[in-house]
Amino acid sequence: MNVPDLKKAKIRTNKPSLYKDVLKINSDIFKGQKYFLKTYGCQMNVHDSEQIRAILENLGLEETEIMEEARVIVLNTCAIRENAHDKVFGYLGRIKHLKKEHPDIIVALGGCMSQEESVVNEIIKRHPYINIVFGTHNIHELGNLILNNHKDQDIEVYSEEGCVYEGMDYQRDSKITAWVNIMYGCDKFCTYCIVPYTRGKERSRKMEEIIKEVNLLKEEGYQEVTLLGQNVNAYGNDLNLNYNFATLLEEVAKTNIPRIRFVTSHPWNFTSEMIDIISKYDNIMPYIHLPLQSGSNRILKLMGRRYTKEEYLDLVSKLKSKIKDVMITTDIIVGFPNETEQDFQDTLDVVNKVKYDGAYTFIYSPREGTPASKMPDNVTLEEKEKRLQRLNEIINQYSKESNERLIGKVEEVLILGESEKDLNKVYGYTKGMKLVNVEAKKDVIGKTINVLITDAKSFSLDGKEN
Ligand code: 5AD
Ligand code: SF4
Repeated sequence: MNVPDLKKAKIRTNKPSLYKDVLKINSDIFKGQKYFLKTYGCQMNVHDSEQIRAILENLGLEETEIMEEARVIVLNTCAIRENAHDKVFGYLGRIKHLKKEHPDIIVALGGCMSQEESVVNEIIKRHPYINIVFGTHNIHELGNLILNNHKDQDIEVYSEEGCVYEGMDYQRDSKITAWVNIMYGCDKFCTYCIVPYTRGKERSRKMEEIIKEVNLLKEEGYQEVTLLGQNVNAYGNDLNLNYNFATLLEEVAKTNIPRIRFVTSHPWNFTSEMIDIISKYDNIMPYIHLPLQSGSNRILKLMGRRYTKEEYLDLVSKLKSKIKDVMITTDIIVGFPNETEQDFQDTLDVVNKVKYDGAYTFIYSPREGTPASKMPDNVTLEEKEKRLQRLNEIINQYSKESNERLIGKVEEVLILGESEKDLNKVYGYTKGMKLVNVEAKKDVIGKTINVLITDAKSFSLDGKEN
């Protein structure tokens, strides 16, 4: 993707891929004032927002849930599908209105949308009230950008690679489970996907830094870490060191942190070595999110996914036979350009063979700048919607059956908090990542308890402490 054509804006590009420590800014310049942070999109953005929160709080700001109270408003945006864009632009209307009444408010927009040339150009033309646009590679500079903002529009996005920064503060959402970045970016360039453009090249954190972070989290009492990467199986490939994702998983397991999860796995480089490590350690959870995207070999090729339907099914049977009680979930796109009924039937065939424990399903959304967005498409939106509905019916049936299989069983559940729907209950997750609402006293929050599963809903389970 090209560098946005910006007139007044200061732009920095092509930072070399280096390891650096962040400079932390502490100031009480905003003491007593509030910030409002809205996060869209995936776990990577949710975790980035934990960093944004720490930066804002280091400036003396306190969080508010009410946008109208805020001196600083930050939007952490998502670009994966068009509706993610629409949501953000819809929200900007409210901010524009607020800014008219309170011109002193500082508005900053970051996340994946800020890495898109067309979005940046639109912001310059139509949204001059946005003070700061920051990228996904330079979040750590947000504090400085806010301190130095003198009301002009200040756009600082990196167009390509970034460094791997260490020593960042995080204001984490939970005291029980924590996200840990193991790598940034993606080199897979699936033809429909904007992520390689908005997040840049794959950059792995050094293993010793990751282990140091996990050990610190363990000392702080964290019960679970989720290792985060667009494509965790590629971990280490860019480093030329003697380790890979399997080595990393084993080292993280040896820290004895009680629970380890990881997202997202690409079926292409999921090795037998990784499967062996997952099955060897009790603290690596038997839960794999394994995006299928399509079950048609023709479409998989056009998507640039690097595996066939048969190879995917083969991997799933290995996972099922080697990892005890493994739960498998997936992502599926329907309506890729020129997808035929036969292609769609191949997707359903995989779904019927794997019988997923859960799935996220999407209608293909063309993303500007990606190869798929230039492919001709003869499938109507109406047909795509029908396919999505047909797919969801089957997916929901399997996920319900997967929940029902657990009725009567005793599951180890890590309790995360009070249940939102029923204040007499707490909620948590099984090892296989099933959400359970549990009848239990509040003092079990933060602990792993045995729960007898008593009932299954479509998307959650009920249970009581056993
Ligand atoms: N259209 C629809 N879905 C997409 N995804 C990624 N790009 C697109 C797109 N252009 C889906 C994929 C991916 C998930 C995070 O979002 O299924 O795994
Ligand atoms: Fe996108 Fe493919 Fe990378 Fe996943 S692996 S982030 S779908 S390009």
